[in-house]
Amino acid sequence: METDKRWTIAVLGGTGKEGKGLASRWAKAGLSVVIGSRNIDRAKEAAAEINSAKCPISVQGKDNLNAARAADIVVLSVPYSAHRETLETVKSVLQGKILVDVTVPLVPPKVTKVQMPPAGSAALEAREILGDTAEIASAFQNISFEHLQGDHEIGCDVLVTGTSKETRAVALDLVSQAGLAGWDAGPLENSMVAEGLTSILIHINKIYGANHAGIKITGVPDKNQPSREITK
Ligand SMILES: NC(=O)c1ccc[n+]([C@@H]2O[C@H](COP(=O)([O-])OP(=O)(O)OC[C@H]3O[C@@H](n4cnc5c(N)ncnc54)[C@H](OP(=O)(O)O)[C@@H]3O)[C@@H](O)[C@H]2O)c1
Repeated sequence: METDKRWTIAVLGGTGKEGKGLASRWAKAGLSVVIGSRNIDRAKEAAAEINSAKCPISVQGKDNLNAARAADIVVLSVPYSAHRETLETVKSVLQGKILVDVTVPLVPPKVTKVQMPPAGSAALEAREILGDTAEIASAFQNISFEHLQGDHEIGCDVLVTGTSKETRAVALDLVSQAGLAGWDAGPLENSMVAEGLTSILIHINKIYGANHAGIKITGVPDKNQPSREITK
């Protein structure tokens, strides 16, 4: 299963660092993108910034609820402290849509220490909030926003977990459309590993003087390597 080019992707928190980077890459790849924000003016401002790069389809800006309402796939990219509240805001319009959760449950100031919420991970908390029938994927936690700026190829890989193989396939296609290599990393329960890895990467950044440490899967035959659309 692949994302239909006619589908619309809403990025809630798309005014922020990670969300805007993803939205920009998808817009340049020709996907229909809506930026969501708590504030419609901020959403429109972020959309205008992305549109200044001459995307094939004009990016829209809406409040989070209307962005989610307009979309087929809803990407959630907000700080963990805003995770529950944002999901509660859009829950009523998520039926039949796929949620792709980018959130890492960091607990400032100790962001180099893995501190999972009682549900086990942000993605599992999303499932608790949305219910067992919700289609949820989890991805991009290990891609620093700095990688997403610009159009260059990104050497780091993306672990994609999700509630079903079909949901993971849609998220994997989004990863590819962003110019990244994504791996099917299994059920949504496995998201706790990808989410936890982010604290390790932040720790590595700190200890080794890096800005955007990432991960790479090795040992898989070339013929089975994930595809990666190169953004223009
Ligand atoms: N930054 C990275 O390199 C990176 C990498 C991987 C994963 N992540 C994860 O991706 C998520 C977004 O990260 P980010 O760095 O893009 O965050 P951010 O720039 O701090 O925030 C993203 C957006 O979330 C909304 N937001 C902020 N505080 C909020 C609050 N209290 N209530 C509701 N909405 C709020 C804001 O949008 P509006 O004010 O417009 O509503 C903001 O623009 C986080 O969970 C982060 O851990 C980040």
